Amino acid sequence: MLKYRVSFCGFLNMWIPEMILLLFLIFFTSTNALPQGAPTSVCQTMMPFHQGGIPAQPGLSPYSIVTRQHGDKVQVSVGSSLGVRFQGFMLQGRTPAGEILGTFQTSPVTDGHTINCADHGDTVTHSDTKEKDQLDVTWVPPVGYEGPIVFNSTVAQNYNTFWVGIESPTVQVSRRSTSDNFGGDPFYAGCFDTKYCFGAPEGCVQSQNCRAAVVVTSVGGKFVFDMKADRNAAWVGVGLSQDARMGNDSVIECVKTPNGRIEAFMAWTSITPYSSIRLSNPYVGIQLLNASISGDTLYCSVERSSQTTVNDQDFDLTSNTFHVLVASGSSVEANSVGFHDLSREASAQPVSLLSYSSAVPNTPPRRPFLTTPPYFSPEPVTEASTEFDPFYDGCGDTKLCFGTPVNCDRSKNCKAVVAVTVTGDKYDFEMKADRSAAWVGVGLSDDDKMGRDSVIECVKAGNGVETYMSWTGTNPYRADRLSNPRLGIELLNASVIDGVIYCKVRRNVVTNVNGVTFNLVSDVYNILIAAGSSIRDGSVGFHDIGFLASGEARALSDTSEVGAASKLLVRLHGSLMLAAWIGTASLGILLARYYRQTWVGTTMMGKDLWFAWHRVFMVLTWSFTLVAFVLIFVELKAWSAENNPHAILGTITTILCFFQPIGAYFRPHPGTSKRSIFNWAHWLIGNTAHIIAIVTLFFAVTLTKAELPKLMDYILVAYVVVHVISHLLLSVLNCISEKSSDSRVSSFPMKDLTGSGRNSAYADQGMDAPFSTLRKIILGVYILVILLLTIALIIITALAPIETTFETILPSKSMN
Ligand SMILES: *[C@@H]1O[C@H](CO)[C@@H](O)[C@H](O)[C@H]1NC(C)=O
Ligand SMILES: *[C@@H]1O[C@H](CO)[C@@H](O)[C@H](O)[C@H]1NC(C)=O
Ligand SMILES: *[C@@H]1O[C@H](CO)[C@@H](O)[C@H](O)[C@H]1NC(C)=O
Repeated sequence: MLKYRVSFCGFLNMWIPEMILLLFLIFFTSTNALPQGAPTSVCQTMMPFHQGGIPAQPGLSPYSIVTRQHGDKVQVSVGSSLGVRFQGFMLQGRTPAGEILGTFQTSPVTDGHTINCADHGDTVTHSDTKEKDQLDVTWVPPVGYEGPIVFNSTVAQNYNTFWVGIESPTVQVSRRSTSDNFGGDPFYAGCFDTKYCFGAPEGCVQSQNCRAAVVVTSVGGKFVFDMKADRNAAWVGVGLSQDARMGNDSVIECVKTPNGRIEAFMAWTSITPYSSIRLSNPYVGIQLLNASISGDTLYCSVERSSQTTVNDQDFDLTSNTFHVLVASGSSVEANSVGFHDLSREASAQPVSLLSYSSAVPNTPPRRPFLTTPPYFSPEPVTEASTEFDPFYDGCGDTKLCFGTPVNCDRSKNCKAVVAVTVTGDKYDFEMKADRSAAWVGVGLSDDDKMGRDSVIECVKAGNGVETYMSWTGTNPYRADRLSNPRLGIELLNASVIDGVIYCKVRRNVVTNVNGVTFNLVSDVYNILIAAGSSIRDGSVGFHDIGFLASGEARALSDTSEVGAASKLLVRLHGSLMLAAWIGTASLGILLARYYRQTWVGTTMMGKDLWFAWHRVFMVLTWSFTLVAFVLIFVELKAWSAENNPHAILGTITTILCFFQPIGAYFRPHPGTSKRSIFNWAHWLIGNTAHIIAIVTLFFAVTLTKAELPKLMDYILVAYVVVHVISHLLLSVLNCISEKSSDSRVSSFPMKDLTGSGRNSAYADQGMDAPFSTLRKIILGVYILVILLLTIALIIITALAPIETTFETILPSKSMN
């Protein structure tokens, strides 16, 4: 036999399991799609490392990118025209060749943040996994770039379902595309975004109907003031002031001169009398770039130096802030402008003309020109009115509700929905669909696909509603009315109110449709809901408004009370597994590995203390694990459909765990030759099971069904760190104590591998190995920390989804 007499004090035997855990942790945290969004390692591929293995969805994604040019920036919106929400995203501007370019402005991004791929802030990704309807961001091209840009994105509907490489149509970015695709007066392009704009009367910039307005563009230390005034103004002026009143202000005025030209002058305002007096050098610091009169509108563009001294006052546009005054008038005098009889307005707050920011009070919302959101939003105006829709009363309670889009019955804004009420042996199907729907139908199916399903359809007919039975076929997809279209159904009530179709149909418990018997009492069915906007001759058209099939078959009398109960089993499974592997297994392993020579001579029920407790903890681990394993199968009734290694790893853990005590029971007597084989095997299986169990717990956090918050990951990481540090400390203590015992016998944890029981130098003398007090302290701390972590994890698991639970507990906290 191998003689393992070498000093096991090496890191090797002590620390292998912990090393593996640590390596896993490093791997996990570096590749796992953490809740903060995509890591920079996926810059080019944009492929989420969702546990490495999950492939992107093939085919067309329900999401698309819409772009609008806005000044020299591009407004990028990601969303779904079908109203499909998403949790995660990653978005970049690229050349068609794939080079990442430009920067995203972070301030308007509420659901995301930028990361740096090729350059600073060139990629934007989600900050959390809340459901999002739409993402709106502003992208700025790199300075001087001119050419085509494609926005490329990855959008994740949830952890397992995501699309990679969703591209926008190509956008032509020109160096200064001031007004391309810009609906509205180009004069105001860039207002509130890159330029400071102000006009009279107040608020006119948003509506682009100012009587007099100024737009300030600051480029490279130069300030260009574009001014315009309507109503046949003879002059328009802009003043920079220390206060919001006239007086001691530096004014640029554009004036129609008697000879029909337009000139720009510098002037200075005084209050006694109110006047605007031209400077002795009226061209100081300014240069007229352009001017015109078109229709009744006077326009001019004047460049002003960033620094000017006027009447001994310094005007530094780069570093100072000013109140801005605009005015216009209909008359001009010889050397000054007349009264501001057409318009006059002063900004209430001083502003910096250099870097205009939306923080300036009194400014309208950013992007005032985007009046039409590019996507249907799941919260349309109608939601307020559907909020009290009695249709949804009792959903999940007295009736089974199912609608599309997913979970719309909770938010009460389904495009198509069915509610099944069972009273005795009466099965009533109520259906309702979107305003645009011409028909709505519910199918009973033995799978989650269309084909060979029995359908009840309600169809708008004239001013009323008709109901029919039909049978679906594939190839082509269709729903054929039965030859007896009223077979087994009765229309109880129906209405079309405001275009919204509603019907209530009672269906017999047993019907035989096309040779298939449908028994609503004894059988379970997948529910299909669909609605469409068109009707063909004798059949309904395509379900263009919505179609959704329930993931699992269920009894129609089963409202979601059962759903709540089944959550209980999932929660129990999680809590028991956490108690077993974070709690008892960790303690049992620690005791067996380091405490054989502590409390020497103390026994419990005839066994050494370490062994007695090791056995207690491990029996608990074993029982918890097996119960939890059975529970999850009772709940899922099948192998988990989720594409996640949790199920397979958990099964391996359970199998290893199951055999461990059986092996231990039949262990060879100490001293026999087979004893060392047993010891190795026991150690190996136990530690393997523990490592796999911890890994499995990490994967549990990503299961959709578990609804666990990412906070779990951090607690699990904390556990691994505590666990590894404790083992390291105790290993080092053992090394030292063995050294000091003259290395007579390799003691442990493999001391038994040589065949005998307690043969350490100290145990033979009936005394503890050195540092026994320190070891006891470490054990105490370890137990305490493990206990706290286990409790925290179990609380989170039992209350999951914890966010919603807290919202229920603290209903008003989340408002505002
Ligand atoms: C967008 O991303 C997909 C996936 O990484 C890639 O195949 C495609 O070439 C990218 N398009 C551009 C323009 O970079
Ligand atoms: C002057 O203004 C007119 C009309 O606003 C414009 O078409 C023209 O390009 C401008 N010229 C310069 C040099 O900016
Ligand atoms: C029919 O439906 C309407 C509106 O949903 C309701 O007010 C009415 O009471 C129903 N009638 C019957 C007989 O159920």
